Amino acid sequence: MASSSAAATQQAAGAGALDRLLTVTHDGMERVNALILKRAESHVDMVPKLARYLIEAGGKRLRPMLTVAAAQLFGRGTGAEINYAAAVEFMHNATLLHDDVVDESDLRRGRPAARMIWGNQASVLVGDFLLGQAFMMMVEAGDINALGVLSKAATIIAEGEVFQLAKARDLETTADDYGQVIHAKTATLFAAAAEVGAMAGGADAAGREALRVYGEELGLAFQLVDDVLDYRGEAGTLGKNTGDDLREGKMTLPVILALADANPAERDIIAAALGKDETPDGVMAQVVAIFNRHRSLDRTVEQADAHVRKARAALETLPASEMRTLLSDIADFYVGRAY
Ligand code: IPE
Ligand code: IPE
Ligand code: MG
Ligand code: MG
Repeated sequence: MASSSAAATQQAAGAGALDRLLTVTHDGMERVNALILKRAESHVDMVPKLARYLIEAGGKRLRPMLTVAAAQLFGRGTGAEINYAAAVEFMHNATLLHDDVVDESDLRRGRPAARMIWGNQASVLVGDFLLGQAFMMMVEAGDINALGVLSKAATIIAEGEVFQLAKARDLETTADDYGQVIHAKTATLFAAAAEVGAMAGGADAAGREALRVYGEELGLAFQLVDDVLDYRGEAGTLGKNTGDDLREGKMTLPVILALADANPAERDIIAAALGKDETPDGVMAQVVAIFNRHRSLDRTVEQADAHVRKARAALETLPASEMRTLLSDIADFYVGRAY
């Protein structure tokens, strides 16, 4: 693991770049946010109520910002990137509504999850509404190729969530299975967000591919870190509860790596804790102690770091610019979160 001072420097550099990126994408993101609110409207009262509840809680807006930044990187923003960015955030919000039902999560973006207020049924249905609106916005942007990229992503995300569900509590789950899950459920949307932004910005095939790979690697790093934070993050900072993954029996990399090295007694403790409705604090502490003994959280962060390096390398093929530097530097923010 990086030393704590190196980690702090890495986090500070990433956060500084993120602030700067927020500034340079500000105008585009204002338009995206306005479009998001407009497209959450419906004559059926419950739709905007529930949708706005989630939207107004914020979230980091990382994916739409990637879309806007990618379009600006290539310089010829046509306006289509605003539609794609809003569509990407709607796809993401739809998956969050669905995901919290599937994961039985109670907290999202620092508030009770929408399902705790309106119930699971309404959450699923409003998620479907947002997906429908996302596709309308893509169609209105008028590029059949970008529509192809985003529709394919929607399919793959759903496949990833189903594959993950099928693997819940399966102690034989491999690191490769996990890689497939996070590639599908998370990296695909980051990749698509960056790729369609590049397309809207007028990128050539090589530029489009560079941004796709950049988004994909960033997405992999992001989910690896999210899976670490589920064990050692703070609910207050994350805006969602920690420990959900263990309760859901989710076979994330920290679990898979620890199981591979665990002795029989440790294995029994992990197996018994996976998928239990209630995890007493003492059991959670035991599980984390086993993870620490086998460095499974640190090794997961190291893998995230490797993906960040690949994300940055993908940008190296492009001409130097301030935006290229910012995109490269924000990659550090993703892993900095893990410390
Ligand atoms: C949460 O994504 C889902 C994951 C892929 C881990 P974010 O952490 O980007 O969620 P918000 O949009 O900021 O709330
Ligand atoms: C992210 O997975 C869900 C999708 C990308 C669809 P998680 O289940 O880990 O996300 P959180 O932790 O609930 O935000
Ligand atoms: Mg979840
Ligand atoms: Mg998670």
